[in-house]
Amino acid sequence: MNTAFVNGEFLQATEAKISIFDRGFLFGDSLYEVLPVYNGQTRFVDRHLARLNENLEKIKISLPNYDWPTLIERLVAENGGGDLQVYIQVTRGNQGARKHDIPTSLEPSVIGFTIHNAYPTYQEKEKGLSAELLDDIRWLRCDIKTTSLLGNILLNNQAVSSGYQTSILVRDGLITEGSTSNVFIVTKDGKIKTPPLDHLCLPGITRQIAIELMQELSWSIYEETFSIKDLLEAEEVWIASTTKEIYPVTMVGHNTIGTGKAGNYWRTIEPLYKKLVSSPHD
Ligand code: PDD
Repeated sequence: MNTAFVNGEFLQATEAKISIFDRGFLFGDSLYEVLPVYNGQTRFVDRHLARLNENLEKIKISLPNYDWPTLIERLVAENGGGDLQVYIQVTRGNQGARKHDIPTSLEPSVIGFTIHNAYPTYQEKEKGLSAELLDDIRWLRCDIKTTSLLGNILLNNQAVSSGYQTSILVRDGLITEGSTSNVFIVTKDGKIKTPPLDHLCLPGITRQIAIELMQELSWSIYEETFSIKDLLEAEEVWIASTTKEIYPVTMVGHNTIGTGKAGNYWRTIEPLYKKLVSSPHD
């Protein structure tokens, strides 16, 4: 049985409930985080909490006053540790009615639970993913980690129901991100590119960790836009997220990327990422 957290209380996940008048439920007026846990150890907690706080400020919800690291640790412990993810959601709260206007004061709702998805193995990742290139139909504030994910899930479903494993999104001819990940390319001349942080993509924690690892390796990493042509002509393409880690994409539509196999840059960065998440300290 899983243990969940609802507004200050730990209880059986099956018993956890929120009001039908919660603005998170009615309007998607709500933010979330997914934090990685390896071997019972939470990773990058400060970064995830900082992003949550920054996003809450953008939509003017104040961060509820919990001891967040302790709350997260307890969710991990109550759910058996191991390799998992902690899901945290903060909504604007229960308004007791359906009203569009945002009330001046409302107690935010906070829920948390664990997700028990195994991280992909090296062997799985080595095979690479197939991605469908799709028009980014989402709103223009993709920097906000909102639970309003209808655009993302419809895009993901479009790709998956067409036989692809994931999707890579395009707006005005430029790559933005994946439907649940950020995107990197390695050009034929060894430059690594990922779209810059603006309103069109999420400031992914995995993206940032990957950039820092590449800087330590003195690789040429550029946070700049790139086109569909750049993507298709790349030597390597990767997606990056908490759950997928850094994962090669070897097919985009009917186009083979590079040699069609996980590339040498990925083979270098992958063990460094794995070592970082498996080491006992942040
Ligand atoms: N999503 N971009 C989008 C649209 C995402 O949904 C995610 C992750 C990322 C990568 O962010 P991070 O590296 O911080 O996980 C980028 C999470 C995992 C999810 O929705 O489950």
